[in-house]
Amino acid sequence: MALTRYETLAQTLRRQIDTQVWLPGDKLPSLRESCKQSGLSLMTVLQAYQLLESQGLIVARPQSGYYVAPRKVRAMTRKYAHTLHAAEQVDINDAIFDILQAGQDASIVPLGSAFPDPTLFPQPRLARSLASAVRRMSPHSAMANLPPGNEELRRSIAQRYAQNGMEVAPDEIVITSGAMESLGLSLQAVTEPGDWVAIESPAFYGVLQAIERRKLKAVAIPTDVRTGIDLDALEQALDTYPIKACWLMSNFQNPLGCTLSSAKKSRLVAILQNHGVAVIEDDVYGELYFGAERPMPLKASENRSQILHCSSFSKCLAPGFRVGWVAAGAYAEHIQRLQLMSTLSASVPVQLALADFLQKGGAPGRYDTHLRRLRRQLEQRMMSMINAITDAFPACVSISQPEGGYFLWLDLGEKVDAARVYRRALTQGVSIAPGTMFAVDDRYRHCIRINTSFEWSPQTARAIEILANLVNEELRT
Ligand SMILES: Cc1ncc(COP(=O)(O)O)c(C=O)c1O
Repeated sequence: MALTRYETLAQTLRRQIDTQVWLPGDKLPSLRESCKQSGLSLMTVLQAYQLLESQGLIVARPQSGYYVAPRKVRAMTRKYAHTLHAAEQVDINDAIFDILQAGQDASIVPLGSAFPDPTLFPQPRLARSLASAVRRMSPHSAMANLPPGNEELRRSIAQRYAQNGMEVAPDEIVITSGAMESLGLSLQAVTEPGDWVAIESPAFYGVLQAIERRKLKAVAIPTDVRTGIDLDALEQALDTYPIKACWLMSNFQNPLGCTLSSAKKSRLVAILQNHGVAVIEDDVYGELYFGAERPMPLKASENRSQILHCSSFSKCLAPGFRVGWVAAGAYAEHIQRLQLMSTLSASVPVQLALADFLQKGGAPGRYDTHLRRLRRQLEQRMMSMINAITDAFPACVSISQPEGGYFLWLDLGEKVDAARVYRRALTQGVSIAPGTMFAVDDRYRHCIRINTSFEWSPQTARAIEILANLVNEELRT
């Protein structure tokens, strides 16, 4: 679509800012000067300036004019892993284990953790639901709640799908011990050891662990920090390797935070369907959106029987309960069998407790009330963290701009060894997730992921200062 005149002017100015024709703090030509130079009307020039202002690139100073925003930390625009990366063998579990173990110390500021701040959740109410569930449990409960899992809970989950305009029958849903189990069972259902799986790059380390455990081969598809997985590269991979499954996150990807546009989701589903590839969709952060509406998962598309939609209550309601599920389409029965052969079932009292919690409170229900509050808090906390990092970190650092979830991805610049920053930060009581956790090689060795869910505190401020100092020291060496 052709750009309007003001968009064209804004694009020219944006390019000039990017190429440092104008530096942070520089005064831009006044509206009148700009009209004269461009031959455009005052209104058109004003619209262009206002567009750049709304994008945070310039700021208006009353009675003075427009200035290039003092952006010490730039919004990230880079695409990673320009090439496909095929790994015949994935070998990452030891490294990840060490990092996860190191983060368990309660005295450490857990910016590397994947867990949300536990104080964000309705603990007393959940405790009441749990107590009441245990009281009401019949002696036959264990048998009655074998796979696919508690019927009331599956119906509540199906109702939430329906609330979002998706038709998912309770029979299609299998309750699991967290999303980790639903993802692992899904992978097992659609692959045999030795098969190829397409994954994102960077990817959630759980993907890499599951692939290693099941002795699969991985093709890592370049994934953009704003627009998500590169579909041309995915098509190339599908033409090159006999890929059986694609495991990805279409909403608030971990670690990048990106969300696919609706158009891209449709194209992705069509591509994978044409190649007969099963989709393992990890949507654990889908409820944690900052905008007005929940971004739809791939599972919302018409052709969804090959899409295994995995999620859980771990990130949005009850982190310690370890309850998740998969809406498994054509694979539901197979997954039940696999679960019966492995963990047998998710814990019965916690399934009953969640069913109790979700059913009480009427429409819109206590769960929705909790989620609305949670989303607001997470957004505020992420903004505070972005501001703090912007103020403290050096100018070469760029930062992702997620519209949901609670992770920021920082590119510290090629000179910085994030694994060393990680080790040194740990000795000063701060954990971060180094980029090496999110790929089978060290291509993200200069990146880190930060958890922004914790309430801002003097400890967090100090942790950011420590990290900024370490990054500055790295840059000086
Ligand atoms: C992207 C992603 N998927 C899955 C999981 C696992 O979820 P659960 O705790 O429900 O097993 C996590 C947890 O960190 C995650 O970040």
